Amino acid sequence: MCGIFGYKGPNAKAGQIVLEGLKRLDYRGYDSWGVAVQCLDNIWLRKDIGKISDVDHIADMPDAHTAIAHTRWATTGGVTRANAHPHASTDGSFVLAQNGIVENFSELKQGLLTKGYTFVSETDTEVIVRLIEEELKLNTDFVSAIRHAFSKLTGRNTIIVLTKSGEIYAARNGSPLVVGVNTQTNEVYLSSDTLSFAPYADQMIVVDNGQMVKVDNTNTITMFTLATGEVFEYTLEAMTVKADKIDKEGYDHFMMKEIHETPYVLRQIVAQDAQSLQAFAHALQRAHRVYVIGSGTAGIASYQIAFYLRLYGKLDAVSLIGADVQSYYEIFQPDDIILAPSQSGETADVIEVLEHAKEKGVQIGSIINMPGSIMTRMSDYPFMCNAGPEICVMSTKVFTSQIAWGYLLAKTVQGKYEEGIQNLQTLSVIVQRYLDNQNNHKALKALANYLSKKEHIFLLGKYQNFAIMQEGMVKIIEASYKHAHAIPAGDLKHYAITLMEQGIPVIVAVSDDVVKNDVITAINEVRLRGAYVIAIAHKQEDYYDYYIPTEDAGETDAIGTIIPLQLTAYYLALKLGNNIDKPRNIAKSVTVK
Ligand code: BG6
Repeated sequence: MCGIFGYKGPNAKAGQIVLEGLKRLDYRGYDSWGVAVQCLDNIWLRKDIGKISDVDHIADMPDAHTAIAHTRWATTGGVTRANAHPHASTDGSFVLAQNGIVENFSELKQGLLTKGYTFVSETDTEVIVRLIEEELKLNTDFVSAIRHAFSKLTGRNTIIVLTKSGEIYAARNGSPLVVGVNTQTNEVYLSSDTLSFAPYADQMIVVDNGQMVKVDNTNTITMFTLATGEVFEYTLEAMTVKADKIDKEGYDHFMMKEIHETPYVLRQIVAQDAQSLQAFAHALQRAHRVYVIGSGTAGIASYQIAFYLRLYGKLDAVSLIGADVQSYYEIFQPDDIILAPSQSGETADVIEVLEHAKEKGVQIGSIINMPGSIMTRMSDYPFMCNAGPEICVMSTKVFTSQIAWGYLLAKTVQGKYEEGIQNLQTLSVIVQRYLDNQNNHKALKALANYLSKKEHIFLLGKYQNFAIMQEGMVKIIEASYKHAHAIPAGDLKHYAITLMEQGIPVIVAVSDDVVKNDVITAINEVRLRGAYVIAIAHKQEDYYDYYIPTEDAGETDAIGTIIPLQLTAYYLALKLGNNIDKPRNIAKSVTVK
């Protein structure tokens, strides 16, 4: 996953503008970066390894009105300056940056090598550059050259091209691409997400798969269909993201700020449009089967949402991980419904499933946090978290938002929408109280200190809490780079019990629900084998070695249980000195398979 940013307009500091824009995209990948500006019929290029957030300004960058930039999450070719984007054509007449993976790049590269082309990088990106060069020999029109070159690629790719005469071209078939326009100042932005130009643009265009855009030297935007080269009329949409500034607002890290936004996020779910929820609830009741599908943390949210739809909605709802749905393609029926939770709305694994499902006539619902995303545009029943930008790569408030929305949807199916609203409003107050109580933070800091010395961390949950413990596992892994493992409490005795020994930490969620006794049994099974039991529960018991008190939130108890786990992960990362908002190796949005 990479970030692409471009600018063309009257401001002569185009290079600095794309540098700032890139910093708002560095959640998409941050191992290397590059900036290219066009001036005096030439292209000035600077790229390097390292985080773009560490770059305040770039010495000797010339004034310019047109520039593109790229922040990289390496997929093909190591993290080196030579592999950083943008990549230049042999004659320097254009540079190109890419987000995606060219699955057939080896054979394409072989073909180009036999034609005598040379390469200075190991990337698939440079293959696209050479293909365009090859096409330009046949005709100088960049639109045709890019179209024909792009058609040779397999895989999901988006590219942006800056020419030395100052035009910008971009083509999309996969990774996200949006255009921002400031209609007052006649400035044009191109980016991987709407957030990165939200403070500057008042209108936007979402570029769909199979489309390309050209911005010429009068700042005129022209849109083409990639397959035919036909020009088509595009529509400018009002910018729905109002993100004047995205900063930590006094918190040390975005993660802590975003956890503290949970009460607000829950109220945003309460404010969802009731009619839209009702309409979707009716569609779900008529469906043959409901598949809830997501990746990573959103995949775990899918599990919890499907749980609520079964428990309260009495629906045949199942959850699947986006990268592992292929065996269902033949099973999907037109009267099935897929529900996709996704922070970015751009996760390639899930989009691929939705494309297959739509071909079978399956209707799509989605709960997304990024306005203008492709998954929102693919949805028959699009819903937004409205949780505000989530910058920390580790998802916290959006996960909570997704499962709270899933709970409210399930209550709506059950015919108890008002009860669902009441319970979420109560939960919002309970979470606020929990976050405001410094004793809780003290207890979790002490727990993080203890866990920081451990190599393996286990989590046990059952029924409403199993997915929550899975998400706790994900947070601990992302925050600490340690091995954590969430187990359904009842499944412990079938294999994991062999791992129990003196001092093994086991975090357990204990709700006052129908499975409480099963969970207590599991606690005793691990304790008598030496485990150290950390219980998130509503009252102390002598068989808890460490007790994390939480208020009983009734039907929404599991949603509240994620908060101490998110905070524990935060304090663990802090204790270990890890990068909290940008953990190693992962990116916020996975727009490649
Ligand atoms: C991972 C993120 O890379 O992708 C997770 O770290 C996220 O937080 C997952 O849940 C899926 O992304 P999305 O945008 O579909 O939620």
